[in-house]
Amino acid sequence: MDYGYFDDAKREYVITNPKTPVKWINYIGTLAFGGFVDHTGGALICRQDPALNRITKYISQMPACDFKGETLYLRIKQPNGYKVFSPYFVPTLDPYTLYECHVGLGYLRIVSEFYGIRTDAVIFVPTGESCVIRDIRITNVSDTPMQVDAIPVVEYTHPDALKQLTNADWIPQTMVSRARRAADGTVILAQYPFMLRDIRVNYFTSNQPVSSFDSDRKNFLGENEYGTWASPRGLQQDELGNRQALRGDNIAALMHHLGALQPGETQRLITQLGQAKSIDKALPRITHFREARSVENAFDELARFWQHYLGALQVETPDANMNRMLNIHNSRQCHTTKNWSRYLSLYQLGYGSARGIGFRDSAQDVMGVLAHMPEEAQALLRQLLCVQRRNGSAYHQFNPLTMIASEGDSVEREDLPHYYSDDHLWIILAVCAYLKETGDLAFLDEVIPYYEKDKREQPLESGTVLDHLQRAIDFTRNDVGAHGLPLLGFADWNDTVNLRVGAESLFTANLYGKAVLEMIDLSRHLGDEASAEKYLAYYDEMRQRVNHCAWDGEWYVRYFDFDGTPLGSHTNDSGQIYINGQSWPVISGFATPERARQALNSLRERLNTKNGIKISMPGFDGFDPRRGGITTYPPGAKENGGIFLHTNPWVMIAETLLGNGDRAFEYYDQINPAAKNDRIDEYECEPYVYPQNILGDEHPQFGLARNSWLSGTASWTYQAGTQYILGLRATFDGLTIDPCIPRWWDGFRATRRFRGAVYEITVSNPNHVSKGVRTVRVDGKEIAGNVAPVFGDDAAHRVEVVMG
Ligand code: GLC
Repeated sequence: MDYGYFDDAKREYVITNPKTPVKWINYIGTLAFGGFVDHTGGALICRQDPALNRITKYISQMPACDFKGETLYLRIKQPNGYKVFSPYFVPTLDPYTLYECHVGLGYLRIVSEFYGIRTDAVIFVPTGESCVIRDIRITNVSDTPMQVDAIPVVEYTHPDALKQLTNADWIPQTMVSRARRAADGTVILAQYPFMLRDIRVNYFTSNQPVSSFDSDRKNFLGENEYGTWASPRGLQQDELGNRQALRGDNIAALMHHLGALQPGETQRLITQLGQAKSIDKALPRITHFREARSVENAFDELARFWQHYLGALQVETPDANMNRMLNIHNSRQCHTTKNWSRYLSLYQLGYGSARGIGFRDSAQDVMGVLAHMPEEAQALLRQLLCVQRRNGSAYHQFNPLTMIASEGDSVEREDLPHYYSDDHLWIILAVCAYLKETGDLAFLDEVIPYYEKDKREQPLESGTVLDHLQRAIDFTRNDVGAHGLPLLGFADWNDTVNLRVGAESLFTANLYGKAVLEMIDLSRHLGDEASAEKYLAYYDEMRQRVNHCAWDGEWYVRYFDFDGTPLGSHTNDSGQIYINGQSWPVISGFATPERARQALNSLRERLNTKNGIKISMPGFDGFDPRRGGITTYPPGAKENGGIFLHTNPWVMIAETLLGNGDRAFEYYDQINPAAKNDRIDEYECEPYVYPQNILGDEHPQFGLARNSWLSGTASWTYQAGTQYILGLRATFDGLTIDPCIPRWWDGFRATRRFRGAVYEITVSNPNHVSKGVRTVRVDGKEIAGNVAPVFGDDAAHRVEVVMG
């Protein structure tokens, strides 16, 4: 089946069949206000925190045909009643003559035709505002006049999203709606839980006179809710019930009589779903966005934002799917993961106060947006540093609204430590990448508190950013086990391998190695040779340990269990070889050249599939509490031998470090979602973003993707593609150009914004090599080496690179 196509010129993906295998979504707004809209108009909207300030009720586990969060009904007056349908297809599922859902940058546009009515609805959050706009044009495309009504509907949740699901007494007793009608006939429906009445209210309104409304779901659906969303009884009456809900399930439904639409005539309805301290406070913005001109300006501003954002890097390679991902969709997905971490998607539901922004996740996500939004990146780094402990380790998650941190899933296991051995090390990679991108060394001196607080909630200790980084290194250096390797804690990057106390992690050893390399580089740049020497000694110490005990003969092992048994070894029955066990010793530089090659070859032989590289093999076949969460999955799923995509770009990077451009690109291409557009019935997820996982070949549904959008795959594939395959890397001294491309490429072009200048880069590859730069000319003059200097002069500079 064909579900849609890429429109690169408009930077959209266009869905042409509403019955996609699973919902396909798009994000609007930011975590400050926004959420996602699915391709049938359903919307999950929240403000600042999906757990504690959620606005619409969207239960993703309910069937695809169900009403979710928001929709629009249209109805045509007929001699014997009304023909009611939704131009978004759901929840009425009427036959359509046209359906298009344009997944755009920060907006979703649904264009449809049903019964001679064409609807064109653009859904977005204006930059910096706390409201969702739906700018809806309704046109009579038939040749007879039609009497048309438009009834947009929202269903609210209690802001405490988990309580909404767990307490069906307190919640409905507190939910209230109030209507405010203005002289011009417009209506604002306010909604709030009683305790927030004087602090914070949701509202729904439009730019057209409203003849009647309803805010009580039971009344709107009718017949004690034996009326359905597909056929609400309320819509068979001429007018809605004008109920101001005093309790119960609150909705907002506004009846607009658009009048008799003549053939070709268009009416424009603009709705707003927002949140404010009070309706009075919101009034100026409400009035503003009732004007079509204001909405258009806001939409143009959104387009300018994306133009600037994506303008940080645009490429032109011989591969169209790579171009469309790097230039548009992958770069955009990095923005999404930076905003929402793992907090809110169809798969990551953001319930409960223990959930929040993931420390390790966001530290990696931020690396995908450094060139595009350095200030926002810095603000997120600051938040992350605030949840680091005084001993250098970090809390696993934090709630962005309250800044309360938690230990994540580790608290579910009394018998295991409540820290993850890798979390704090990622912040070193992120901060150093930020410094290289921006040159903002002053950030290192900024004083940021550690997490621990006294009784008055004041931080017990603060330290400079540099101090935070040093403590992170020290924590791991001192937290080692029998082989001198880092203790696993509750888990490392792989959340689901939870071994008994005393187990050691080779992943964390290599991540530590990479972090120490960054500290050496940073210390040298700061002119602090003594620190550089110290870190060099740390590096050598861990390198020797890893090579001394972790080489299994043909690859590196992944863990040592509490009793010293190697895991990820040919001696194991399941989990004999792990992907991260091989890529990371190359990234850390711990692997000798010979072992690096052998490790990556073993990985290719045992783990590679046409749909991506598996995380490990063979899968565990049966639950085993001594191994932990990994054994809760059947073989081939998720961390148990699935294709866990986040790990794939690390292999691409490792291959480029060895100079294998052909393989790096092959691995890049085989997981490119844009290349799956003609295999959707097997793959199922959106072809315009990376998913977290694809079922591996041990699973009967090999190739099925899940958990799209919020995955470290976004940031790392972007980094692998741009910094390692195309080789455009920010360094302290300038922009390094060190491509590692397929030999058959003749070259590529790129435009890169970097420290206040624009680099127009042309790479040519006349001798068809993968790696190696022969000459670099900057503005016509040949330079020594391959680092284009920092200009910071707001000007464009030509960089011509010849490989060979
Ligand atoms: C999920 C988590 C991430 C973890 C990965 C592997 O993607 O968000 O933090 O590293 O699973 O377990």
